[in-house]
Amino acid sequence: LTAEAAYALREDEAMPRHEEYANIDWNNLGFSPRRTDYMYKSTCASNNTFDQGQLIDYGNVELSPAAGVLNYGQGLFEGTKAVRGEDGRILLFRPDQNAIRMQIGAERMCMQSPSVKQFVDAVKQTAIANKRWIPPPGKGSLYIRPLLIGTGPILGLSPAHEYTFLVYASPVGNYFKEGTASLNLYVNNDFHRTTRGGAGGVKSITNYAPVLKPLLRAKEQGFSDVVFLDSVHKKYIEEVSSCNIFLVKGDVISTPSTVGTILEGITRKSIIDIAHDLGYKVEERLVTVDELMEADEVFTTGTAVTVANVGSITYNGQRVEYKTSDCGLVSQKLFKRLVGIQSGKIEDKYNWVVAI
Ligand code: COI
Repeated sequence: LTAEAAYALREDEAMPRHEEYANIDWNNLGFSPRRTDYMYKSTCASNNTFDQGQLIDYGNVELSPAAGVLNYGQGLFEGTKAVRGEDGRILLFRPDQNAIRMQIGAERMCMQSPSVKQFVDAVKQTAIANKRWIPPPGKGSLYIRPLLIGTGPILGLSPAHEYTFLVYASPVGNYFKEGTASLNLYVNNDFHRTTRGGAGGVKSITNYAPVLKPLLRAKEQGFSDVVFLDSVHKKYIEEVSSCNIFLVKGDVISTPSTVGTILEGITRKSIIDIAHDLGYKVEERLVTVDELMEADEVFTTGTAVTVANVGSITYNGQRVEYKTSDCGLVSQKLFKRLVGIQSGKIEDKYNWVVAI
C-alpha cells in the first residue's frame, strides 16, 4: 500500500478504532500523511480567546476563500512526536516548548495563539485519541502537527479576525528516503531561506514553500537536502530546509546561533544540552561554509529528522566526504542519548518527557 493509498483509506476500512494497533505495515512508514482517526480543533473569534476545543473526526477543513491563511499566508505550524515506551506508556517530548514557540510565532505574525496549557492538552488528546496509530516501540512515532491559521475572511492586507488551532497526527518512520543512511547535502548560494528582519526564526508556513524550488533541484541531482547560506554575506551557514545543522571539529561542536533567521529547533537545543552533558564544548556562533567543508563530522537535527549524520557536502562544485562509520561518531552518541530519553530507556534528568 503506498502512502497516498493509505491516506485515502476510508475510516471504516481502518476500523475498528478500539484495537491496540491499526492494521498497517509498521516497518515501512516513511514520512507521508496517513489518515488517522481524530483531530483537535479550537477557534478564536474576535473576543480573542480560544474556545474549549474538541476532538473531531479526522477530515477536511472548510475555509472561506478569503481566509487570511489562504490569501496572505497567516499560518504557523509545529511538529512534535508521541512514542510508545517499552512499558506501553505514551511519551511526548517537550510539548510545552512547541507551545511557547507557537506563541512567539503568533506574536510575529499578528495572530492570536492558544495558551501553553491548551496547546499541550490538545497534543495529549490528539495522541491518546489516535493511540492505535502510535507505532510499536522502536518502529517510529506518531508525528503530531499543530497548526494555527488565520481563518477569518479579509481582503485588504490585515490580520484575520478569526483563528483556528488544529492538531492532527500521522504515524511516521524515517524522514529521509535514505532511512538512517548518511545524508548528502547541497549548499545553495543563490536562493535564501529567509533574510534579516524576516520570519525565519519562527515556524511560519511562509518559510517553507520558497525552499521547494532549490530543494527539488537538489533532489533531482541526488542530494538529500539543501543547506542555506545567509542572504547578506552569503558565507555563513544558516539551516537546512527541514532541520538545523551542526559541525564537529576536534572535541568542539558548533552550530549557527539563532539570530532571527534560523529556527530555534527544540531538538537543536536538546542536543546542545546533551552534548554539554557528554563533555563536549558547544559553540553557538556564526559558522562559515568553509568551516563546514573542513569539519570532521556534520549532522542535522529536527523533530522530523531526529539526528541525521551527513556523509557529504557539495558547495561550488566541490564535494567533501565525512567519516560515516557508526563507531565513534559524535552524532551517533547524541542520537542514541536523545532517542533513549525520548523512548523512556534512558533516565530523563531534564524532565523533558511527558508520559500520558
Ligand atoms: C519538523 O521537524 O517537525 C518540521 O517541522 C520540519 C518539517 C519540514 C518536516
